[in-house]
Amino acid sequence: MTEPFLVVNDLHRSFNDYKAVNGVSFTINKGEIFGLLGPNGAGKTTTIRMLSTVLPPDRGDIVIGGYSVRNNTDSIRRLIGVCPQELALYADLSAFDNLMFFGRMEGLSSQEARAQAMSNLEFVGLTDRAKKGRVDKFSGGMKRRVNLAIALMGNPQLLFLDEPTVGIDPQSRNNIYETIEMLRDRGMTILYTTHYMEEADRLCNRIAIMDAGIIIALDTPYNLKSKLGPPEKVNLEDVFLNMTGRSLRD
Ligand SMILES: Nc1ncnc2c1ncn2[C@@H]1O[C@H](COP(=O)(O)OP(=O)(O)OP(=O)(O)O)[C@@H](O)[C@H]1O
Ligand SMILES: [Mg+2]
Repeated sequence: MTEPFLVVNDLHRSFNDYKAVNGVSFTINKGEIFGLLGPNGAGKTTTIRMLSTVLPPDRGDIVIGGYSVRNNTDSIRRLIGVCPQELALYADLSAFDNLMFFGRMEGLSSQEARAQAMSNLEFVGLTDRAKKGRVDKFSGGMKRRVNLAIALMGNPQLLFLDEPTVGIDPQSRNNIYETIEMLRDRGMTILYTTHYMEEADRLCNRIAIMDAGIIIALDTPYNLKSKLGPPEKVNLEDVFLNMTGRSLRD
C-alpha cells in the first residue's frame, strides 16, 4: 500500500523576475527515497527550502503528514529534518555541542537532546570525536556527517537531504550512503538530491528530473533507463544528459 506523506501541487517561486520554480507537483510516499535530480540552478534547493517551510511559495500547495504549509508550519517542522546543501554548523563548537544546540532549538529537553546527540553521532560514526575539538578542524567528510546527524535531531519522519555527499572522498560518501540505507531500513521517508547519478540509481525508489524550474521526468530509475534502451545497458547519467542536454548552466 502506498501512502503519500508529502504532497506538492503546482509550486511556484520567483526571485525578482526569474522563475526558479515554475509549477512543480509530486508526491512522496511513506518510507520512500525520492530523488530530485537536475543541473545546477534547476530549482532543487529552492524547492526544498519551500518544502521545509523556510521560504514561502508564491503559489501552490504543500501538505506534509496531513498538515498544510499554509497554516501549520509548526506541526510540519516537528515532522521534518533538513540536511542543507551549505553546511550549517557552529565552527567553534564541538560536534556534540552543535547537536545539543540544534536539539534545544527543536524544543528537546537537555536530557533528551543529550541522548539523541550521542545516539546520532554514533549512527554517523563520530562517537570518538563527539567532544574532541571544534568542528571547523574536522575533515570535509566529518563535517558532512555532523550536518546529517544534526538533521536527525528531533527524530524526524521525513528527511530532506540536499547534496549530502558533495565534495567528499569516496570513503566518506560511502559512509553517508550506508547511513541513508540504514535510515531507509528504519522506515524513514527521504527526499534526496545529488549530482552523483549512480548513487541516485542505487538508492532511490523514484526519481524526478528537474530542469529550469519544472519536472521533466518522474519515474523509477528502471523505467527512466528503459526509455533510452535496455535498462541493464543504460546508466542514469545517459538518461540525465539525454533529457537535460549538454549545455552548461552557469
Ligand atoms: N535567494 C535567491 N535570490 C535570487 N536568486 C535565487 C535565490 N535562490 C535561488 N536563486 C536562483 O534560483 C535558481 C535555482 O536555484 P537553486 O539553488 O534552487 O538551484 P539548484 O537546483 O539547487 O542548483 P545546484 O545544483 O547548483 O544546487 C538559480 O538560478 C539561482 O541563482
Ligand atoms: Mg542546490
